[in-house]
Amino acid sequence: MCGIIGYIGKNVKKNLIEGLERLEYRGYDSAGMVIQYNNNFIVRKTVGSVDNLKENVKDIEFDGVGIAHTRWATHGKISLENCHPHFSFKNEICLVHNGIIENFEKLKEKLVKKGIKFYGETDSEVVAKILGENLSLKKIKKLFSLLEGSFSIVSISKNKKELFFAKYKSPLYIAFKEKSMMVASDPSCFFGKFNKYLTIDDGEYGKISLNGIEVYNQDSQMVEKKVSKIKTKELADDKNKFKYYMLKEINESKSIIDNIIERYKQSQLIFRLKSLNIKNFNRIYLVGCGTAYHAGLVGQMYFKEMLEKDIFVCKASEFIFEKNILDNKSLCFFISQSGETADTITALKFAKNRGAKTIAIVNAEYSTITRIADDFFPICAGLEKAVASTKAYLAQCIIFYILAKSFKNEDFISNLITFKGKLSLGNNSLIKRLASYLSYKDKVFFIGRGIDYITSLEAALKLKEITYIYAFAECSGELKHGTLALIEKEIPVIVVATDKKTFAKVLNNAYEVKARGGKLILITSIAINKEIKDNFDFIIKIRRCDEKFLPIQSIIILQKLAYFTAVKMGLNPDMPRNLAKSVTVE
Ligand code: G6P
Repeated sequence: MCGIIGYIGKNVKKNLIEGLERLEYRGYDSAGMVIQYNNNFIVRKTVGSVDNLKENVKDIEFDGVGIAHTRWATHGKISLENCHPHFSFKNEICLVHNGIIENFEKLKEKLVKKGIKFYGETDSEVVAKILGENLSLKKIKKLFSLLEGSFSIVSISKNKKELFFAKYKSPLYIAFKEKSMMVASDPSCFFGKFNKYLTIDDGEYGKISLNGIEVYNQDSQMVEKKVSKIKTKELADDKNKFKYYMLKEINESKSIIDNIIERYKQSQLIFRLKSLNIKNFNRIYLVGCGTAYHAGLVGQMYFKEMLEKDIFVCKASEFIFEKNILDNKSLCFFISQSGETADTITALKFAKNRGAKTIAIVNAEYSTITRIADDFFPICAGLEKAVASTKAYLAQCIIFYILAKSFKNEDFISNLITFKGKLSLGNNSLIKRLASYLSYKDKVFFIGRGIDYITSLEAALKLKEITYIYAFAECSGELKHGTLALIEKEIPVIVVATDKKTFAKVLNNAYEVKARGGKLILITSIAINKEIKDNFDFIIKIRRCDEKFLPIQSIIILQKLAYFTAVKMGLNPDMPRNLAKSVTVE
């Protein structure tokens, strides 16, 4: 995991800090920076977020070369010793690393035997010690044969204005203009500074200086790289009037539907939808992690209604261990907001190698997943910064709706326009009241059936990840087979019930909870009489709309519920503890 950045040019500190701020979604356990000055290194490291590092570098104002890092701890505790950049034995070079070196223990053992001293516990420090004291392209290339796992590395030495880099599995991009160059884990770092960038591929390594960029492949041949333009609209990350990104992103729901409609009206995407000839496939797989996995479950619901096919939803981290039938009759969708999730990338490569047709459903159109998959469908949600995914989930669900409709050759645009008109972002004061009540609880249950169970799963994930409340979702019909044993007096149980077909049964399950002292909260779009009302302690009515879109309408309210609960508890919903937005390790 982690975000890495290197820079040559004017105002090196400012550029590194601004880049780190954009990379912070990749981890915020510690942040560090090294700037080369007078043939020496100026080193600053802090535990915690980039804000802490900012305080620590106030006195530095140079032009030149530097590297920086924001960490999500994998190997070794959160500490200054484990904070990047890491140094060679004699401190002549230093580096930042994103990825995991799987054989680091073996390599470390050998180095320790040779008398090399280590300061921390990270796998990354081993790479710095291996590189030694003189940076060269030869040494950088050697890393590929020595290291097992994944790595993007940027390294500098004390006395040359050069950045060396290597990439295997973890992402790396280089932006350039006349008098400055930047290398980073994510092109969003280039926003507002550069117009053009290169994408570094696996196995490539090289050197960046103000004289130019040299990229080499494993045959030591110089590679001519394709230049891409930075799409400023996609990378804008203004918080506007919002205190936190999460609320801003939930509030973008309507404009995202507009973006999707605009994009999916275009001939290029219509053509791609049409070329996906569903008749050619027997089985469909929807694969993702976390929220993206839940979007896959919604997609499965849409597909099942429209297609007579076997449709499976898989967690990406499990996919390669399951005995899935994968061949050229399999159509596999890989769902990922970032397009960089390591488990999803592994699953994608696995399916591709077995001849399956692979399609990426991604937000970051320049990502690894987009590049590897046979084709991709953009979700058009714009940059999502809050760790807890909200607007991307809505967009992923809509793309599956579009796919399902287009498989049946049915129009989707007019339904989306109508839905957008009806979409409600909810009554904030009502949601805040409920949030305030939940903020004093340490456990919350969500129950529902069918599509409402999927919404419950996603709502529980949102609540637990940003409030640390133990949140658990269960199919309401399954309660009596185990989970009911956990219900005691005053436990809040949120009943998601938007589907008329299952409403009566869900109510019965809810009353079983009430009989055991649980507090019942109803989230529904269905008209209810006084008798039902009296059985609930709190009710939030969801605006009615086409039933296909109810899971989208209801999740917006539940995302906000999680958000307001976190804020009420004094937590930062954008940066939940222990988590990161882009999970680039398996
Ligand atoms: C992390 C994020 C989640 C996200 C999941 C999958 O766990 O915190 O918000 O749903 O990764 O990420 P992806 O970028 O592949 O959608």
